[in-house]
Amino acid sequence: MAHTKAPEDAYDARPFVPAGADLDEVRAAAAGCRGCPLHRDATQTVFGAGNPHARVMLVGEQPGDQEDRQGAPFVGPAGKLLDRALDEAGIDPDDTYTTNAVKHFKFETVPERGKRRIHKSPGLREMTACKPWLDAEMRLVDPEVIVVLGATAGKALLGSGFRVTKQRGMLLPYEDRGESLLATIHPSAVLRADDREAVYEGLVSDLRIAARALG
Ligand code: URA
Ligand code: SF4
Repeated sequence: MAHTKAPEDAYDARPFVPAGADLDEVRAAAAGCRGCPLHRDATQTVFGAGNPHARVMLVGEQPGDQEDRQGAPFVGPAGKLLDRALDEAGIDPDDTYTTNAVKHFKFETVPERGKRRIHKSPGLREMTACKPWLDAEMRLVDPEVIVVLGATAGKALLGSGFRVTKQRGMLLPYEDRGESLLATIHPSAVLRADDREAVYEGLVSDLRIAARALG
């Protein structure tokens, strides 16, 4: 009997990524991605945004509720905090390009909580499916430093063995593209922390390492 592949085995954005396209063309193509089921319930694809020639690329996890509605990354509370931390670390937010490991918002609704959409972390399958978009962004923006925000982005770029607690705050080589990679916590972790000030300072001091790498 012929073996029929379950549809989830085919999670893959690659058929949607145009070859030889520039960043705007890739962004336009991503709007129509059906590479995994996350596009079904989300409002829209949230592609990266910012300076297309940025020296620093920041990679978060996935769009949140506000990003899903507005169609741009890091426009909610985590983004505001991130901009403040970048500025304090000596990185001009206007000289960055910001994106996410996964381009559609994954959420659940709990009946007792009405219409509120509660963030769900993307799984390895969705991260792997969506990676071709991130690869295209890295190739086309060609940053000097990639800043990984939190565990999901770290796993997407460095593999499932990545541990933010162990690998944060140091420059790591990334593949063979000549870029450096710096991992730090996700800005949402600051918003959730009891000791916000100390956790925020940790984020800023990690970002200063990235700033120094730019010279
Ligand atoms: N958190 C993320 O990881 N990405 C966003 O774009 C917003 C919040
Ligand atoms: Fe495509 Fe990524 Fe959205 Fe899945 S999450 S549909 S792979 S853009």
